[in-house]
Amino acid sequence: MRNDAELALLQRDAAHLIHPLHNPAAPSTGKVWVSGEGAFLIDANGDRYIDCLSGLWNNTAGNGRRELIEALSAQAQTLAFSSGYTGSSNARAIELAERLSALTYPNINHFYFTSGGGEATDSNLKMARYYWKLKGKPTKTKVISRVWGYHGVTFAAMCATGIASYKPMFEPTMPGFVHIPSPYPYRYPAPADAQSQGIAAAEELEKAILAEGADTVAMFIAEPVQGAGGVIAPQDDYFPRIREICDQYEVLFVCDEVITGFGRTGKMWGLQHWGVQPDLIQFAKAITSGYFPLGGIGISDEIADVMSSSGKPWMHAYTYSAHPIGCAVALAMLDIVEQEDFPAQAASKGAYLMSGLQAAFGDHPHVGDIRGLGLMCALEFVADRDSKQEFDQTLGIGAQIHAAGVERGMFSRVRGDVYCIAPPIVTAQTTLDRIVEILQESVKSVLG
Ligand SMILES: Cc1ncc(COP(=O)(O)O)c(C=O)c1O
Repeated sequence: MRNDAELALLQRDAAHLIHPLHNPAAPSTGKVWVSGEGAFLIDANGDRYIDCLSGLWNNTAGNGRRELIEALSAQAQTLAFSSGYTGSSNARAIELAERLSALTYPNINHFYFTSGGGEATDSNLKMARYYWKLKGKPTKTKVISRVWGYHGVTFAAMCATGIASYKPMFEPTMPGFVHIPSPYPYRYPAPADAQSQGIAAAEELEKAILAEGADTVAMFIAEPVQGAGGVIAPQDDYFPRIREICDQYEVLFVCDEVITGFGRTGKMWGLQHWGVQPDLIQFAKAITSGYFPLGGIGISDEIADVMSSSGKPWMHAYTYSAHPIGCAVALAMLDIVEQEDFPAQAASKGAYLMSGLQAAFGDHPHVGDIRGLGLMCALEFVADRDSKQEFDQTLGIGAQIHAAGVERGMFSRVRGDVYCIAPPIVTAQTTLDRIVEILQESVKSVLG
């Protein structure tokens, strides 16, 4: 039940605020949040909820971290803003680029900062096109991405995103964006004679490159684990084969680590699970644990050399590129990630959570798939487990389970009938137990 204070706030909200993914006239199923404590959020009613998606996958360190608050405040007092245009800089941005250089892949040592993930996608798209122009291959402009991939919703990022519902309102999309199927271990229909499901899914990329013409393809972009698309981790042989294909056809491999970076999957970077190195990466979210909007891209030495030797300025600019406060918060956050070993914590807590989910739902007739990597998991609900038949989407089973979870003190997000579970990395074991209990009660209330 909402109290009067929350109802009054929601009324004022409806009068003036436009929300992402929401019709202004529709009744709100959201919450008015007023505070946070560690892995919990508190609403205007005074009720506590487990923050089962770390905000939007970003708040891995949880609420109330003194180190982040102090770094933010100290930087705001010293230098609130300075421009990074035409070579100006600030000490925090310089330190952050150095630090990321040591933390990312050995070939990636040059960074451009943005305010978030969608801007990072745009920056990488422009970088890839520019690189091929400088290499004397200006026809290499196309972008291949995957169904269920999410890379943001700026116009160019939306074109790369592979979740269909984001596009009809804004079509036509830009030409030159091609989507291949997701490797989706639970659903990808590999041919019977395929070497393996992962290889067959990776070879969808080769098919697309050949169909488009390798001389027209600039880059392939992929998340190590598809996040917003429903927490889809690929087969172990998928990304090694993707790397080979990209090398063979001279296609840049852009790794979107916006959710998976900084420990979420049990390693510092998601792609490290498969020993594969990208040509470009992008990151955002957990780099500041959501305390300040910051993202960015990292590019290989080869791309950086080509760019520098052109002698031309990089005609791409955001006012908030390398914002000193964002960079200061990111530096404090990297201290936390390293000192508290977030990758190891995500690995062990993820394994614990997964065993709880398996014990609770392993035999459930409507839980088709229990999946995840590190502290990034999902349950996929189906009408029939044997045939993997989906529920009629008009039933809104996922939305009902989400609502039942909210009633019991847990807030997350669903993709259709896939319930996503990615709490802060600092979440206590007892809270992980409670997540499983709430899910059990919620699923029982909706599906029996
Ligand atoms: C993998 C990935 N890339 C890009 C984005 C877009 O980031 P933003 O919402 O900060 O633009 C997201 C956001 O969820 C994401 O998950």
